[in-house]
Amino acid sequence: MRQNTSDLLHTPDARRYGPAMYDVTSDPRGRIFTDPAAYRDMTAWHETAADLRRTEPVLRVESDFYAPFWALTRHADVFEASRRSDVLLNTLDSVLVPEFQSQMIEVLGIPRPKTLIHMDGHEHTAHRHVTNDWFKPAAVKTRQDAIDAIADEFVDKLADLGGRCDFAQDIAVPYTIRVIMRIFGVPPSDERMMMELTQGLFGAADPEYMPDLSDPIAGFMGILQRFEDYFAAMTADRRAHPTDDLATVIANGQVDGCPMGDIETLWYYIIVATAGHDTTSFALAGGMEALLRHPDQVEALRADPSLAANAAEEMIRWTAPVRAFLRYAQEDVEIGGVTIPAGDRVLLSYPSANRDDAVFADPMAFDIARPDAKNLLSFGLGVHYCLGSQFARREVRTILPRILERVDALELDGEPQWSDANFVGGVKHLPIRYRVR
Ligand code: HEM
Repeated sequence: MRQNTSDLLHTPDARRYGPAMYDVTSDPRGRIFTDPAAYRDMTAWHETAADLRRTEPVLRVESDFYAPFWALTRHADVFEASRRSDVLLNTLDSVLVPEFQSQMIEVLGIPRPKTLIHMDGHEHTAHRHVTNDWFKPAAVKTRQDAIDAIADEFVDKLADLGGRCDFAQDIAVPYTIRVIMRIFGVPPSDERMMMELTQGLFGAADPEYMPDLSDPIAGFMGILQRFEDYFAAMTADRRAHPTDDLATVIANGQVDGCPMGDIETLWYYIIVATAGHDTTSFALAGGMEALLRHPDQVEALRADPSLAANAAEEMIRWTAPVRAFLRYAQEDVEIGGVTIPAGDRVLLSYPSANRDDAVFADPMAFDIARPDAKNLLSFGLGVHYCLGSQFARREVRTILPRILERVDALELDGEPQWSDANFVGGVKHLPIRYRVR
């Protein structure tokens, strides 16, 4: 297999290797999990996933590029695997990347992310405990005024744009970034830099968002250093002058009675800064696309803004911006009637679980009033259940009725574009037109 150092830290570019790099040597349907471009056409993707749920819900996927895994597509199996954190561990490899990429990172001694997502057992519980209370529903509720004010700011921006915009890039992305940075305690003047750093660090499969890859290792180390400098200053400041922001909680975090280690503190900042924005902006942009394809539902929501909470839930079910996480079997474990041998790994497919007709009535229908939307698995489940789910829900449900109050004749103004990504992805460009009231 040909390799290029540019690909070490980012999803390798199919333009360089040809689309065959994502071929699977087992059942060809497994390609929907390996190929980032497969997520560009979600209609075709969901047809294949539905077929798998019916015929091969625990699918063995083998390829030249990825170490083998078992893809779980049914709601019940993703649910069960998420719950079994006693025998199915996250490990440092909980995100699907090509095998040579993880091996080379190891060989070159490049620091590997160690966030909550990469921890297990007591280490995970103890680190999660640092911020758990801060993210509980009652605590998040106290931030509602701040979210309201930011939503108002972006609805003003929508009006200022005068009747035409790219809803994804002009509204969804900057709105969700501002909320997360505000709760974090990062001033708006540093938002752009934080965005560049997070994109540079984790990269993206989508060629549009690939950073300069001429010297990826130096680039990665440089970004990490800039993060470290920024957050070290933030830590020192919040230790000396505590406020009510999240940075203060992390900076003063104790694990087992001792201050949290420097590396763990750095990665804690990074996971919150990164997990919080791409995900929510894809849910909002993709949810808006679905809404606009159903003008009757736009009018229903306008007529009854109390539908916004359920609409947000349905948008997050529908879009499932996190496509998958992996779990590693510590002993033989049975999932969906198949024995996963010790040492093997399972891939939890959230978009597929969310369209399982065993749980959702008419799952391929977008319906902001559906009573079963709350069964969504977009936020995962169990000990790693998304820490920021309350924020994500509030962000989406806060801005929706405000938009409809301010504009009418809201409709698509061209074809939306989806990102190529098999980790976090969704609608990256959403041209819309509207009349400002
Ligand atoms: C629609 C938006 C979001 C989606 C779809 C989403 C999805 C997920 C998923 C699937 C997981 C892993 C769950 C598991 O393994 O069981 C996760 C974990 C996590 N999320 Fe989110 N997320 C969203 C928004 C946010 C926000 C706004 C924040 C921060 C404010 C956040 C912070 C985190 C953190 C820190 C974890 C790691 C938790 C742990 O491992 O204990 N997420 N998220």
